[in-house]
Amino acid sequence: MDIVIDSLTYTYPGQAAPALKDVSLEIGAGELCCLIGANGAGKSTLCCAIAGFVPHFYKGEMYGSVVVGGVDTVQRSIGDLARRVGIVFQNPFDQITGATLTVFAEVAFGLENLGTPRDETRRRIEDVLRKVGLWELRDRSPLELSGGQQQRLAIASVLAMDPPIIVLDEATSQLDPAGTRDIWRIIARLHAAGKTLLVAEHKMEYVARHASKVVLLQGGKVIACGSPREVLGRDDLARCGVRRPPFMEIMRGLTQRGLWQGPMPLTLEDAAAVLKEVARR
Ligand SMILES: Nc1ncnc2c1ncn2[C@@H]1O[C@H](COP(=O)(O)OP(=O)(O)OP(=O)(O)O)[C@@H](O)[C@H]1O
Ligand SMILES: [Mg+2]
Repeated sequence: MDIVIDSLTYTYPGQAAPALKDVSLEIGAGELCCLIGANGAGKSTLCCAIAGFVPHFYKGEMYGSVVVGGVDTVQRSIGDLARRVGIVFQNPFDQITGATLTVFAEVAFGLENLGTPRDETRRRIEDVLRKVGLWELRDRSPLELSGGQQQRLAIASVLAMDPPIIVLDEATSQLDPAGTRDIWRIIARLHAAGKTLLVAEHKMEYVARHASKVVLLQGGKVIACGSPREVLGRDDLARCGVRRPPFMEIMRGLTQRGLWQGPMPLTLEDAAAVLKEVARR
């Protein structure tokens, strides 16, 4: 297991109620685990706990344990954990160092801290900036980028470090549909290459299509953990503040009327094929 969380209860400083309540979770190596849940459910807090920002940066009160790549997060510094787990924050502005003048230098920043050789650094930076579509903007100031571009830059900075575990907290929230598709294509490629990924995401069509595991949070608690079909098929999903992709609602309607008994399609294309089949019958 790459990530093992055992009975984690965490309260931010000065808060009466915990943001995470008795969370236990295991994420295997090579898994693409999606975190879903309403605003305030605890997705970002859980992401930060896996990268060690909870409790090292936020402080507060933590019970239970988080073990990432075999090490207990409480025992290590954030810098030490950064070699094992890279995190893209929900707000890209939180990620930008403010210490560099160009997009290129921003990506180089983390690599130089790791002591990567110069030629290797250049090659890696070009590779990741091309991947996220920012190579043309390499000489721009990070502060002049749009929200979506800053989000791409944050992703590039983490990819450049090439950690075995990558946490993406709503990394597509500021991107348009085409930008979102680009980033999810990168996520799918990382998954295929064997990275362990934890992705908090509100866009359920991507969760349905790509996740190997889905964790549903509500009020800081894990409500469900299972395959996308299991978790997105739950009757209480709307009550947890999560909306299924529209094609899944249509398919559920067909199933309830006895028109479709097969497995729930997880992509729009598969749903369209089923609809054609049902219409033909
Ligand atoms: N820095 C903080 N200090 C105090 N409370 C916080 C802090 N960050 C989050 N919280 C609280 O912790 C709870 C969980 O918040 P969190 O940001 O983890 O939810 P989320 O699922 O990521 O929501 P969203 O979908 O809006 O990003 C909420 O009640 C929130 O108000
Ligand atoms: Mg969040």
